[in-house]
Amino acid sequence: MNDAATKVIPIRWEDENSEIVWLDNSKIPWKEVLVSSKDLERLIKAIQGLEIRGAPILGEAGAYGAAMIANNSPNSNSEIIKNMAQQGAALAAARPTAVNLSWGVKKIQDAVNIAVDNGLNPSEVKAAAIEAAKKIQEENIRATEKIGRHGMGLIHDGDVLLTVCNAGTLACDGIGTSTAPIRMAWAAGKEFEVLVTYTAPLYQGARLTAWELHKDGIPVRVITDNMAGHLMREKRAAAIWAGADRILGNRGAESGTVYNKIGTFGLALMAKALREEGINVQMNVAAPTSTIDPHTKTSDVKIEQRKPGEVESLFGAIKIVPDGVGVLNPAFDMTPPHLVSAIVTELGIAMQPYNITIPELLSKEGSMVKLP
Ligand code: MRU
Repeated sequence: MNDAATKVIPIRWEDENSEIVWLDNSKIPWKEVLVSSKDLERLIKAIQGLEIRGAPILGEAGAYGAAMIANNSPNSNSEIIKNMAQQGAALAAARPTAVNLSWGVKKIQDAVNIAVDNGLNPSEVKAAAIEAAKKIQEENIRATEKIGRHGMGLIHDGDVLLTVCNAGTLACDGIGTSTAPIRMAWAAGKEFEVLVTYTAPLYQGARLTAWELHKDGIPVRVITDNMAGHLMREKRAAAIWAGADRILGNRGAESGTVYNKIGTFGLALMAKALREEGINVQMNVAAPTSTIDPHTKTSDVKIEQRKPGEVESLFGAIKIVPDGVGVLNPAFDMTPPHLVSAIVTELGIAMQPYNITIPELLSKEGSMVKLP
């Protein structure tokens, strides 16, 4: 494996100052800026401003943020529990669509409750919260490697692959999720080309995925979002590799519904149309089991609506929409399960019918979520 990918540390807990340190995603590829803080408001601002982003990293940020809430609390178990509930709710609500954020907060709330029930004193409870958050990060990193191993068999010599947004190290830690099979296949000597879609309006594909894969020496070219259909047909693309912010796994017909960056649904539809023409483009989704939400229905998932300025102008520098004209800015979309070819997780690959295969995955030893 190329070292470049694993040297990027998107977020970590700094023991010396009891603070969280993150790599500001909003500044890449222009600058690599590390930010540190022990302030919850600053962390929430970083999450909302996409300095920290991507579902699995939001899980880590939720966990480290919850540990920070515990650590900043007075030395009293009842105060810790009260702060975890109140401030933890604000942290979990910082962004609504990726399920991992609230999952990470809840994991640390559970760890704190267990520590308190076991009779630990406040200092020990705080230490237990920090340790639990570090374990989540370690588990996430291991999950990306397993996703890579499971998914690499789906990539073949000569393939043309497309990515959407950034589900790489910056978003998922380790070797990323959608980038994990790509990196593993490349390290195994397979030869292929990756077309990275821009992913307007914030260009996480062009800025972040291209930055990561190029560092690894993987052949990558950036395309605008509206080139995808034409180029997949012309190049007889083999697969789209997407990440996920939430995958429904509620045992019903909605199981396998994928919420991911805006534009994913369109790509999945194009892939289906091309398959009907005889071009076998697969729609592959890679995510850890912590991204599977076994509780929620499509009607209850909130799609984040972001500020108009992101669409009205290019990074606030040049206004591209005439004054007085409105815009819309939904950050995610929903891809129905019948358009999803495979869901690659750390516990293996699920294929249709997802109402059977996702529960099977979640019942395996090591699943990060349990079915109710
Ligand atoms: O708005 P973002 O940048 O947090 O969006 C998240 C994403 O990068 C994608 O939707 C991604 O494909 C899934 S998260 C690994």
